[in-house]
Amino acid sequence: MRFALTALTDELRRLKTAGVKTVAVSDASIAALRETMASRAQPAVGPELKAVPPLPVAGVKPVLPTKPVTAKPSPVPTLPAPPTLTLPDGGKQIRWDALLALVQNDPVCRAHVRPGKKVVLGVGHLDAKIMFVGEAPGAEEEVQGEPFVGPAGQLLTKMIQGMGLKRSDVYIGNIMNWRPELPTSANGEQYGNRPPTEEEMCYCLPYLRAQIEVVAPALLVALGTTAAQGLLGFGSFKALGDIRGRWAEFAGKPLMVTYHPSYILRNQSNRSKRMIWEDLLKVMELGALPISDRQRGFFLDK
Ligand code: URA
Repeated sequence: MRFALTALTDELRRLKTAGVKTVAVSDASIAALRETMASRAQPAVGPELKAVPPLPVAGVKPVLPTKPVTAKPSPVPTLPAPPTLTLPDGGKQIRWDALLALVQNDPVCRAHVRPGKKVVLGVGHLDAKIMFVGEAPGAEEEVQGEPFVGPAGQLLTKMIQGMGLKRSDVYIGNIMNWRPELPTSANGEQYGNRPPTEEEMCYCLPYLRAQIEVVAPALLVALGTTAAQGLLGFGSFKALGDIRGRWAEFAGKPLMVTYHPSYILRNQSNRSKRMIWEDLLKVMELGALPISDRQRGFFLDK
């Protein structure tokens, strides 16, 4: 209950900061809130996981809470051993298409995707120099079957443009190929996201490794704690702040760890933006991208 109310007040605060003055609440949302309130009287049957549905706002596309639900997820079924993937010989497109077919037909991935939603593989240029790696699909991603198409994705696209590139110049993948499940509401929708478990990430990692093998980027960028944990290993660092902005290595590629774009959505200060930007300047340097004085000066104002 506490998590649900925190998510609700966070979302209302976020909307207020964004200048939204009125919030229209649908009958369905009111019913869902009533249901949540009513369940308060029930004895607890497990960890509190329900995130509050985003409130529909007149003229504003609902944005799901970007803050991950940190409550312990309900026990995730034990997954089988990660798949061993064999790709055909041939060019990058042939190999990537085969990989897409493998992930889309993977029974474990399919079993974790709710009806009408999609398993998600990476997207982008197969000759990209730079590969960004995020955490897991969210609500928009599992509908469109493409990573980073929601609010965090739109910000990532802006960051890429700030680097003087187009989104289609780079490759964007995730540690996970499905949206980590939370209990669905009465209408069958999932509200809110949770970080994947170590077991879930281990299961999906071969798909990411295969994408790295096919695309063969010059360097990787891990976005956020979960991506960094997935690539560097759980327990390999205490706090993201300890390792961000420094080059690490994964699959023989230089790996820059930086914050997830959703961190900026929650902390809109130039200081936060500058921290990510400095990491991206290092990526541009290693990737031999031209850097103008203007780009070097982004977000320096307090
Ligand atoms: N956040 C991620 O880490 N990946 C996505 O695809 C979308 C949001």
